[in-house]
Amino acid sequence: MTNQLEKKVVVLASGGGSNFQTLIDSLQNDGTNIRISALVVDRPCQATQRARHHHIDYFEVNRHNDSNYNTQVLKTICQSADLIVCAGYLSILSAEFIAQFPEKIINIHPSLLPKFGGAGMYGMKVHQAVINAKEKTSGCTVHYVDTGVDTGKIIAQATVDIEKGETAETLQKKVLIEEHRLLPAVVKKLLQDSKIT
Ligand code: GRF
Repeated sequence: MTNQLEKKVVVLASGGGSNFQTLIDSLQNDGTNIRISALVVDRPCQATQRARHHHIDYFEVNRHNDSNYNTQVLKTICQSADLIVCAGYLSILSAEFIAQFPEKIINIHPSLLPKFGGAGMYGMKVHQAVINAKEKTSGCTVHYVDTGVDTGKIIAQATVDIEKGETAETLQKKVLIEEHRLLPAVVKKLLQDSKIT
């Protein structure tokens, strides 16, 4: 029987899935009414092993497939989701998919947007660009997904200081720690503040 009070989250990932793991640990295993109903990946990646370990259904779309096909698959998996979380998902979502889920798709990005976002700005490239620009701070941003790349409305950010001698690698580790705090906190806030219907 479906629990009417339960909130369902679908996570989209392409990589190691450490943000996916932190959502499992802080939501699913922490007595909230939030359940991760599925993981979707767009390539073989470690995130699926985490899903298997925690008995979460997972699906793989193919980033080289016709995007209409991927959109239809995603729409089916996400149709009853209360929130769709892009956690290191590298494929661009179609405008048709985004239009179907207004203010229900969020993304985590490892910089203080609007700085260091946009096409080609992902993973270590972001942190290297921050170091090259001699920034004093960096951080991470959770934002709604719109049809641009990293342009949707900002929901929350966390900041880290950049120390003397900081490298892209050390910065990535520091920012990831903040990502793991910020993302579950935002998901909880969005789902627990919203009315239960
Ligand atoms: C994170 O830095 C996230 O901000 C970015 O991709 C990375 C994914 O890490 N979008 P993980 O797969 O969650 O470990």
